Amino acid sequence: MVDFDPVTKAVVPAAGLGTRFLPATKATPKEMLPIVDKPAIQYVVEEAASAGLLDVLMVTGKNKRSIEDHFDRAFELEEVLEAKGDEHRLSQVREPASLATLHYVRQGEPKGLGHAVLCAKQHVGGHPFACLLGDDLIDQRDHLLRRMVEVRDTFGGSVIALMEVPKEQVSLYGVATIEATSEADVVRVTDLVEKPPANEAPSNWAIIGRYVIDPAIFEVLENTPPGRGGEIQLTDALRTLASRGSEEGGPVHGVLFRGRRYDTGDKLDYLRTVVKFAAGREDLAPEFVPWLREFLDEIS
Ligand code: UTP
Repeated sequence: MVDFDPVTKAVVPAAGLGTRFLPATKATPKEMLPIVDKPAIQYVVEEAASAGLLDVLMVTGKNKRSIEDHFDRAFELEEVLEAKGDEHRLSQVREPASLATLHYVRQGEPKGLGHAVLCAKQHVGGHPFACLLGDDLIDQRDHLLRRMVEVRDTFGGSVIALMEVPKEQVSLYGVATIEATSEADVVRVTDLVEKPPANEAPSNWAIIGRYVIDPAIFEVLENTPPGRGGEIQLTDALRTLASRGSEEGGPVHGVLFRGRRYDTGDKLDYLRTVVKFAAGREDLAPEFVPWLREFLDEIS
């Protein structure tokens, strides 16, 4: 068996404009919107850390200062909580800074997800890396990223996460052409298309926000012209890798994900996520769930 270079670093693109969530995202990054009492991006960093990826590079941009502040120490606040003896809140405030070693790079202009990934080139160097979208949450009970790293360790190349979506939603995603492999949850990706009309989609398997990427992507991205929406698309660069052999950064495999995923950059999905997370919280559910039931009765 070939020993592939191990994955140790994670890249979290968080420099998008978040137009679907305006006006909240005019001055606040969508990745900082709270899921109950924790910003979405903290769950993403927790996920990287729990998959053993303790070197995390955030790609940020204009109006994203609060992300850096969140993952930094907050001495004044800590002093106040310490003086009060509020150990619980103190540990909550300190936690984000202790999850991983965080690094930052700025994407001067939001020229697309592919361009955001290209901004990670210098930090990542010639090694494979995980990429986790900062507004896309995977339930911590579903170990998708760990499985993707395993698949990269077996097959090399790049690995994307695929989720089955209803036909009428395929135009919102990148969509894969797939072939079965000997492993039930792993497919070979032979082609990719970004946001196709429903009648042109090659399958119902949509790309979601987790990737394990071969460093050959950087050279491909440098030569990838702006695609759909005038943005440099990561999907287009992965499509190039999917057509290549293992010597040149291919192949691309997909892990078929059947777990729980929350797109917090979408208003409706955000609302569902907050309600689900609140209903699962021991400290909130005893009051929140009965209230929710009453409220639903009231409006039905
Ligand atoms: P999205 O397409 O969801 O981000 O990109 P967006 O453009 O901010 O969202 P809308 O559609 O306008 O509401 C997926 C991920 O890629 C990042 C985003 O921050 C998000 O985590 N991204 C996107 C960048 O970092 N840079 C970009 O230029 C575009």
